[in-house]
Parts: sequence; structure tokens; C-alpha cells
Amino acid sequence: MKLDLSILNLDYKNVEKDLNKLIDILDYVHLDVMDGVFVNNISFGPDFIKSIRSLTTKTFDTHLMIIDPIKYIKQFAEAGSEYITFHVEANSNVMDTINLIKSYNVKPGISIKPNTKVEEIKKYLPYVDQVLVMSVEPGFGGQGFMPNSIDKVKELYNLRKENNYNYLINIDGGINDKTITLVKDYIDMAVVGSYITKAADKVECANKIKNA
Ligand code: DX5
Ligand code: ZN
Repeated sequence: MKLDLSILNLDYKNVEKDLNKLIDILDYVHLDVMDGVFVNNISFGPDFIKSIRSLTTKTFDTHLMIIDPIKYIKQFAEAGSEYITFHVEANSNVMDTINLIKSYNVKPGISIKPNTKVEEIKKYLPYVDQVLVMSVEPGFGGQGFMPNSIDKVKELYNLRKENNYNYLINIDGGINDKTITLVKDYIDMAVVGSYITKAADKVECANKIKNA
């Protein structure tokens, strides 16, 4: 399994030390951007991402939980994101946002919250490089996995096969060594936050996900 490590719940003053510990194991660094409007939490912005960009050559996977993503694509692209994923539930025009992300040579991803059906993003699937299924209500790390995400990743897996689409299937929220087994056959990568970042032995937990 490819590991997309969410650093949201890391102690930011140790971010370099903790990243270094996990750097050989992780595949992507997942960067949760929250604006206090789209979700009830505020995290960090492009300057923070830019400042940690030089810590690793691993792929930066930026997840925008912001109300008007199109306004900030340029800044997140220039900060060093290789994927920029935004929410279909946000206010920006979806196709315009996808095209703007591509214009910076960044890979676009689309995400759906727990109450949004795959049907609502079907028409965008040919144009995106990643689909991120939320398995918690976005806003906070450390929440419990919502099982209605299992059918969604399965549906995305089947749609990709039937249509020869190219997107990666990713899942975000409440993933640990148990919940990963419920979805592993249908996903390419998994966002994992607190299961690893809050653990005493981070390396051991990261390896459990990798070996799932
Ligand atoms: C939630 C974020 C997630 C979250 C994952 O809004 O998008 O990336 O931090 O954290 P865990 O793995 O703790 O659910
Ligand atoms: Zn996320």
C-alpha cells in the first residue's frame, strides 16, 4: 500500500525530525489545508508548505478544505504541491479549477465528503489524477472511520476499470491497521494521520500500513 502521511496532527516544531524518521517508508506527504469556513478548523497555508518543501523530495499531496479553492491554486502550486485536491462541495467551478491546476503542471484531484455520492463527480472522472474519498467528516484528525466509504472506493475502482480512467483512488480519515483491510483491494494509496503521528512507535505503525 502506498502511504500518504498526513502531518496535520504532528507537533509542528518536530516536523523535520518526525518526517526524517518516516521518510524512507512514506510515499506522499499529505497536506491538509483548512480555512475555518469550509470546515470548522484552521490549519496552515502555502507559506508553511513552501517552508517544509525542502525537507524531502517525496511527492507533496495538498488537500484543500477551503471554500473557494480556485482563488488559491497559484499559491499552492508555487509552494511545491505535486497534487492539488479540492472538494466538489466547495464554491469554485469544478472544471475551471481542474484546468487551472493543470496549467501549473500540477495533478488535479477531486474529493467527496461522507454525504456526497460518487454520482456527483462522475462527469469529472476523465479529467482528474486522483479521487479522494473522505471516510470522516473533514476538519479534524483522529476521528472514527465511516464504513459508507467502502462502497464508494469500490464504485470508483469499477468505474476506472470499465472506462480505462487513470485516477488514483485515495481514502482519508480514520485509517489504521484494521480499517485499511476493509478498503485495501480498491485503493492505490491511503491518507494516514493520527494512527502514525500520535503513536509511540511511528515507524512500526507506518510499516503496518505499507504491508497491508
Ligand atoms: C481530515 C483530514 C485528514 C486527517 C487524517 O479533515 O483531511 O487528512 O487529518 O487524519 P486521521 O488519519 O487521524 O483521521
Ligand atoms: Zn486530508
